[in-house]
Amino acid sequence: MVAEHATAGAVDGPAATRPRIRVQGAVKSFSGRVVVDVDDLVLGNQPIEGLIGPNGAGKTTLMRMIMHSTPLDRGRISLLPADGREVMLSSLAAHRMSRHGVVKSNQVIMDFDKLTIWDSLLLAVAEASYEQPHRIFSERTVFQRHEDEIRHYLDYFGFADPTAFAMSAGEKKLLDIVRCLLLKPSFLLLDEPTAGLPEDQTEKVMTVIRDVAGGGTSVVIVEHDLNVIWNLCGEVHFMAEGSVVLRGDPQSIREHRTVVEKYLGEGHV
Ligand SMILES: Nc1ncnc2c1ncn2[C@@H]1O[C@H](COP(=O)(O)OP(=O)(O)OP(=O)(O)O)[C@@H](O)[C@H]1O
Ligand SMILES: [Mg+2]
Repeated sequence: MVAEHATAGAVDGPAATRPRIRVQGAVKSFSGRVVVDVDDLVLGNQPIEGLIGPNGAGKTTLMRMIMHSTPLDRGRISLLPADGREVMLSSLAAHRMSRHGVVKSNQVIMDFDKLTIWDSLLLAVAEASYEQPHRIFSERTVFQRHEDEIRHYLDYFGFADPTAFAMSAGEKKLLDIVRCLLLKPSFLLLDEPTAGLPEDQTEKVMTVIRDVAGGGTSVVIVEHDLNVIWNLCGEVHFMAEGSVVLRGDPQSIREHRTVVEKYLGEGHV
């Protein structure tokens, strides 16, 4: 079933079992050009959702608006936790987002060049969790708390030497995903998590996404590799020219005339 995205629906239904994010009247312009104009959108009704659309549709900007790293011109964005009160994300400072469990990976990967793989990850966890991030390097107990988990993920993705520096874009991409997982998100936004990765690593990323969603985290994925979207997502939102114009299950979005015309091209289905 495909719904035109006039109303997002399903917000006032039975109590949700996982957190959701609601975007209302959110507008962003750059140099007088509107690049995002989302009327009413709820993310998180399904454990894993996709946000797809052509280049320049506004997907990354919308995710950045949710994270408050791109300020809104207008509108509101809130977190509806599975239990507890609504949190107005659009009034929070960006660095407080991870305290509420909202975490995002980056389409353009962060700078891992100055520190070793190990230290980059430790510092990222510390930055999100502690008032004085540099102290993590001198606090043995804090260090031990994260050590096993970091080692687990590095083994899983095949990083043989944690004292090395990340070299390739693919390695940096994977480390950014590991960084997100270490933060124990309740709501995880992934911007092109598998772009440029070889097939075996893409499979591994898909497995960790399934696992984290299975543990109760809401996940939203932006991705041009549509096999990832069709395989993982229970619901897909289609974005074009700044607006989310359709939502539905993967099959119906894949076959929808608008999606074929504006994005997939004839012969794709
Ligand atoms: N900081 C900025 N300054 C000016 N224009 C910007 C800025 N960030 C994004 N834009 C413009 O906003 C529009 C939406 O960009 P955005 O990166 O959100 O698209 P996208 O859907 O993520 O595309 P892609 O699939 O290529 O990653 C584009 O036209 C882009 O050039
Ligand atoms: Mg983008």
